[in-house]
Amino acid sequence: MKLSTLAGSHIVATGSAVPDIKISNEILSRIVDTSDTWISTRTGIKERRLLPKHKSIIDLAADAANEALDNALLSPSDIDLIILATSSQNDLFGSASQLQAAIKAKNAMGFDITAACSGFLIGLITASQFIQTGSYKNILIVGADILSRWVDWSDRSTCILFGDGAGAAIIQNTQKNDILGFHLNTNGAEAKQLSISYQYSPEATSSSYRQQSPPSGRYNYLRMNGKEVYKFAVSNVPKSIKKSLNELQISTDDISWLLLHQANQRILEAVADKLSIPTEKVVSNIAQYGNTSAASIPIALNECFEKGKICNGDIIVIAGFGAGLTWGTLVVQWNAIESN
Ligand code: COA
Repeated sequence: MKLSTLAGSHIVATGSAVPDIKISNEILSRIVDTSDTWISTRTGIKERRLLPKHKSIIDLAADAANEALDNALLSPSDIDLIILATSSQNDLFGSASQLQAAIKAKNAMGFDITAACSGFLIGLITASQFIQTGSYKNILIVGADILSRWVDWSDRSTCILFGDGAGAAIIQNTQKNDILGFHLNTNGAEAKQLSISYQYSPEATSSSYRQQSPPSGRYNYLRMNGKEVYKFAVSNVPKSIKKSLNELQISTDDISWLLLHQANQRILEAVADKLSIPTEKVVSNIAQYGNTSAASIPIALNECFEKGKICNGDIIVIAGFGAGLTWGTLVVQWNAIESN
């Protein structure tokens, strides 16, 4: 979708936060039947971070948000809207309000987006709509997940992949526009391939009226069909990127950075290969953090800004994919302009 710009959305600053505790492949191989060689060659992951029990997702999200605020030279009261993308919220009614309180953003309205690994991308696109219609001036988008609390630590096919983290971005209404276009997709028919589903207890589903107790149950651990998710990502993400670039009449040669959701190094390479984008343009930090779900894109984006990799006019193609199943692309051309 090519955007007809009313007001410009500019990425003013980013931030990120990860817990200090590192879980290496070597440590994991003492918990489940796996090895550093298997994990490294199949996924590219060397270690991931784990949030200690006494810390909450709000602590992580607030650290990332405060870093973005500092980098933007903005005060929390300047923020009009907070969008928290998370699928491991500590309150099913939403956690953005807790984040609003934690960072003292007293003028901000807040809401959650639950879309797993695509959550931050959807949050950034949603935020840009509010900016472009002129509704809000400064919007904070945070992607945070602590899937370590939702994986089955005895299931070697999933527990090796995920890590905890948070990343944030602030977008602002400015004259120049960084957000060129996007594409978002959902295939709900394949939702079963990756889910944390709610399961009723057997009594709750009893057909006998007399035996029936109030419906109750609990959430299962994260369940995933790795092969199907792999095929889904490698087939759909390049198509989504091509479609977005074609509409904007941008060639893959013009791309400065390909920033994909950090799920698996092999997925990053396969997508880049299908688009003939050289490896040096592919952003990757999966070795250090694993798959941090909604946090992976903003953590990687923040790293790019911190390292001075993104320069004025650079075109960054950001693509997310994951549970839902959902996937999408956002094309950004970053303008190194002063915030207003
Ligand atoms: N350590 C050692 N062996 C493992 C293992 C582990 N952690 N996990 C699985 N295995 C074994 C399997 O039991 C299987 O053994 P078998 O051949 O004796 O049956 C073998 O390794 C191959 O398993 P398979 O599931 O076919 O491996 P794979 O090459 O598909 O890799 C994933 C598995 C999960 C790494 C890969 O499918 C993947 O990355 N999928 C995408 C997942 C993803 O990105 N999810 C998040 C999206 S947001």
